[in-house]
This record gives sequence, C-alpha cells and structure tokens, in this order.
Amino acid sequence: MEKKTILVTGGTGYIGSHTCVALMQAGYEVIALDNLYNSNEVVLDRIKEITGERPKFYQTDVLDKEGLRKVFAENHIDAVIHFAGYKAVGESVEIPLTYYENNISGSVNLYEVMKDAGCKTIVFSSSATVYGDPASVPIKEDFPVSTTNPYGTTKLFNERILEDVYTSDHEWSVMLLRYFNPIGAHKSGLLGEVPNGTPNNLVPYIARVANGQLEYLRVWGNDYKTPDGTGVRDYIHVVDLANGHISAVKYALEHKGVEKINLGTGKGYSVLDVLHAYEKACGKTLPYKILARRAGDIAECYADTEKAKKLLGWQAQYDIDEMCRDSWNFTLKNPNGIH
Ligand code: NAD
Ligand code: UD1
Repeated sequence: MEKKTILVTGGTGYIGSHTCVALMQAGYEVIALDNLYNSNEVVLDRIKEITGERPKFYQTDVLDKEGLRKVFAENHIDAVIHFAGYKAVGESVEIPLTYYENNISGSVNLYEVMKDAGCKTIVFSSSATVYGDPASVPIKEDFPVSTTNPYGTTKLFNERILEDVYTSDHEWSVMLLRYFNPIGAHKSGLLGEVPNGTPNNLVPYIARVANGQLEYLRVWGNDYKTPDGTGVRDYIHVVDLANGHISAVKYALEHKGVEKINLGTGKGYSVLDVLHAYEKACGKTLPYKILARRAGDIAECYADTEKAKKLLGWQAQYDIDEMCRDSWNFTLKNPNGIH
C-alpha cells in the first residue's frame, strides 16, 4: 500500500515532535512545518536518532499563505495535523491580538490553502480548556463549552471554524482533539518539553525544582473540594497523546465528518500526588510551599475517555510514575533545553 503523507504543523514543538516520531514509526511519510518560534531545528536530528530518518522540513510560518501554498504545491499531502500556535494562557491575556492573529488568522490561512489543494482531512489540537469550569467530572465531549482567556477562545473559534467548513463541504474530515494535561517525554530522553523562561505549568516547574534551578514548588491553593485540597488534573504522557493522533488520523482518512474527542487518561491526580510521584522518580524530597489559589484555576478536570476508546480504539497506557520518570530522564539529559 502506498504511504500516506501527513503534514505536521508545529512539527518541531513538544507534542508535534513526539507525533512525528509516532507517525514515522507507524509507516507514514511525514513533512514537518514550523517557524521555529518555540522550538529548535535540532529536534529534527533527534527525530532521526530515534527513527533513523530526518523528516522533510519547511521553516514556514502559517501566517505566510504563499509559503503554505508552496508546501502543498511541492508535495501530495493526504492529511494535516495542526499543532502550530501559541499556548501560554497568561501571555494571551496580555497580548490577545497576537494570539488571535497567530492562532486564528494563521489557521484560517492553512484551511484555505488545504481547500485549494483539495486536502480536506485535518486533525486539530484543541484543549480541555474549552470546557471552562465543568459542572461535573469526568468531562464528556458534549458538555457545554466556554472560555475565560484569549488562548481558550482561539481553540474554541478554531473548532467552530472547522465545523462551518464541514457544513459548507461534506468532503471534509475534521478531528477536534481536546487534550488534557500532556506531560512526560520520549523515553530516549531526546525529545521533551522546553518551556520558555520560568515554567507556568506544574510538571516543568517541578522538574526545575528537582534539578535545583528553582528553590521550591509553589502549590496554588489547598482549599479546593478535592481529596487533599489541591487541584486535580488528568495528566497524560505525551507519547500516549502522540499515539492518539495516529489513531485519529487513521480514522479521519477513512471517515468524513466532524468529531470532538477527549484525549486524557480518565484519571485525576492532585498537585501533591504529582509532586510525590516526581520525588519517587528523582529520588529526592522536593520542597514546596502552599500559597493562595492561582486566578482562573479550577478545582478538578479529568476526561471521560469512552468516546476515544469506542471511536478510535485508543486509550492511554502510561501511568503517572512513568510520566514523571520520563520527564526526569529528559531533564537530566537536557538541563538547558534542546540545542
Ligand atoms: P509547542 O510550543 O511546543 O509547539 C508549537 C509549535 O508551533 C512550536 O514549535 C512553534 O514554534 C510553532 N509555531 C507557533 N506559531 C507558529 C506559526 N505561526 N507558524 C509556524 N509554526 C508556529 O506547543 P505544544 O505543547 O507542542 O502544543 C502544540 C499544540 O497543542 C498547540 O496548538 C497547543 O495550543 C495545543 N495544546 C497544548 C497543550 C499543552 O499543555 N502542551 C494542551 C492543550 C492543547
Ligand atoms: C493550564 C492552562 C490550560 C491548558 C493546560 C494544559 C492555565 C490557567 N490553564 O491548565 O489552558 O490547557 O495548562 O497545558 O494556565 N500548579 C501549582 N503550582 C505551579 C503550577 C501549577 O500548584 O507552579 C497547579 C495548578 O494550580 C493546577 C495544576 O497544578 O491545579 C496544573 O496546573 P498547570 O500545569 O498549569 O495546568 P492547568 O492549570 O490544568
């Protein structure tokens, strides 16, 4: 059978790079596209170390429509997995227009170029953030959606835009994947998350406490209605998430329509659970202080994973100890990120 070719936008980023590896290992031809705003070209060499092959790469901005046209003119692309975008919630509140331009205008460019090229299969990176503060957990895909910051709004708008595109042309196949909290790294220690500046997210912050770059973890509140009072989230290993994309792209290539799907483990862990799992992984006691709640945080968020299981035949395999082990391995091997 002829190999299907998948364009991965944001392909050198955290989730994109793991997905390139998973696609290549599953027998797809991969073309990575990234403007390298939040990643490094060295990632392509790392992908080669793991898979034996360096994916074809375009250093292109999704805001550059002519650049995108060139990619489609030079290649036959069967489907696109669209990761490219900005993702910092706090920053999106400070510079909303930049977020709307990059995450919405850039995406609209991509969808237009895809339409013109006759490529109508897309897997989009959405987020559990579109559920806002859910009325109950586990969260199902048909729960009401709302957003509290521009980043979340860009995710919801993209979902709506792609739904409208499908309404206008039923030849499209659209997978809206709502990720819960991706953490961890490739087991080789070659790929992982490299946050810009001081991390906002829990596990990258803990990793820096573990390697001595930060003094202690600031636990944002212990008065939530959760078993230990700290926030509960559905952490998912990035390799599981990448594999979810393989199942999603396969499904999308075989079916038309729009599907919204949660990618999580279905299990909730508290901030202190994660801290203790990380202590086990690194073999040290990690200092922390309890501080006030962080504005905009919710108590509990974890996925109902039935739809992913039924529709895609996919479910997460790795547990929290393995996620922390792989994060620590990556941190030890790349104390200053990927260069
Ligand atoms: P990342 O920043 O590591 O990867 C995104 C990549 O997109 C980066 O390599 C960046 O250089 C590139 N990029 C940004 N703007 C671009 C543009 N205009 N043109 C071309 N490339 C551009 O982020 P990630 O964690 O891998 O996230 C990937 C996607 O998943 C994002 O859309 C993000 O919003 C979404 N998502 C992430 C999380 C998470 O916790 N990491 C959760 C839910 C959803
Ligand atoms: C954040 C984003 C969300 C995004 C998700 C996955 C915000 C408000 N929300 O969610 O849009 O989809 O990441 O990327 O940023 N915590 C601490 N100390 C820290 C960091 C975090 O106690 O230094 C706690 C938080 O209060 C929360 C949990 O750890 O209870 C997870 O936080 P984080 O990793 O930032 O993810 P989310 O808040 O779930």
